[in-house]
Amino acid sequence: MSSQEAGRAGGIAELDAERRRTRAAYGEGALIVCDRVVRIYAGDGIEVQALQGLDLVVAGGELTAIIGASGSGKSTLMNILAGLDAPTAGAVRVDGHDLSSMTGRERLAYRRRMVGFIWQQTARNLLPYLTGVQNVLMPMRLGGVRRRDRARRAMELLDALGVAHCAHRVPERMSGGEQQRTAIATALANEPRLLLADEPTGELDTASAGDVFTALQTANAELGATVLVVTHDPAVSARVRRTIAIRDGRTSTETLRRGPVDASGQAAHVAVEYAVLDRAGRVQLPREMISRLGMHDRVRLQERPDHIGVWPDQASPPPGDADPAAAPQPGED
Ligand SMILES: Nc1ncnc2c1ncn2[C@@H]1O[C@H](COP(=O)(O)OP(=O)(O)OP(=O)(O)O)[C@@H](O)[C@H]1O
Ligand SMILES: [Mg+2]
Repeated sequence: MSSQEAGRAGGIAELDAERRRTRAAYGEGALIVCDRVVRIYAGDGIEVQALQGLDLVVAGGELTAIIGASGSGKSTLMNILAGLDAPTAGAVRVDGHDLSSMTGRERLAYRRRMVGFIWQQTARNLLPYLTGVQNVLMPMRLGGVRRRDRARRAMELLDALGVAHCAHRVPERMSGGEQQRTAIATALANEPRLLLADEPTGELDTASAGDVFTALQTANAELGATVLVVTHDPAVSARVRRTIAIRDGRTSTETLRRGPVDASGQAAHVAVEYAVLDRAGRVQLPREMISRLGMHDRVRLQERPDHIGVWPDQASPPPGDADPAAAPQPGED
């Protein structure tokens, strides 16, 4: 090997080690780690890229809302996290389970014990010929909960979620909101660490939607599940600490509400919206800002000691010569 080749090989080995290091560090200790997840639906000569390199890290114990336009990939992501679908590329880890490489048997065990799932369609969540309590008992039977513990736990769950009165009714005799809360009890039967809800309030009136959301908060705060909820309902996203927006198959912005959440569930302090910076250094600029400033094709960047300015190509003064005092300061718009 020439010294040049040896140098090159050393460089590649170094890069590889660096890649392994950053990979191990990315999302370390988190409950959910999505690492450049791609999901392509292919068929009949048409290819849809539903997820296009989505990165997401969620710590255990969080209650997080996911929002985004129709078709942005929210359900695709939820189905992958639920173990119902597999990514085309990229890595997904939930509580140490690598969802991209599970065998069929592991996937089944994962679905039974690790995750609970609630669909938007109330009718899809419960077996119509079983009562509320029988629905909650069903996954426990499959999940191997001891017989003598089952009935007690089922009633405790229904009670905690405010639907003890539905224990002996079939779904048809419950309201939509009661069905969804019973569905949450059923999803929590085997004490999954992760509860996924894909627009659980989409078919409900405002009052029932509020009750269902309260049930999700109970699942999170009292029953210890990490909850990820897809919603179009601004009232829901206003009641969570973290809201993640998905656009075109990627996480685009994130809103964090700081400060204590009051009794009505509203955060006392203002929400701050962040753009997501992925590990390749990419930031998706909000469309409204781009169009207001007439930005397209390329932008100029201006590095300052404490921030980076983004300028339309045609703007003057050029970034390098701009007076920093003239640049907008944070919070000044
Ligand atoms: N089984 C499938 N086969 C082909 N394309 C699909 C399939 N499922 C979803 N898609 C496409 O993938 C993209 C993302 O769909 P997805 O259902 O994840 O969006 P969504 O954000 O949940 O939308 P909505 O808010 O309407 O529920 C869309 O373009 C959709 O048409
Ligand atoms: Mg959807």
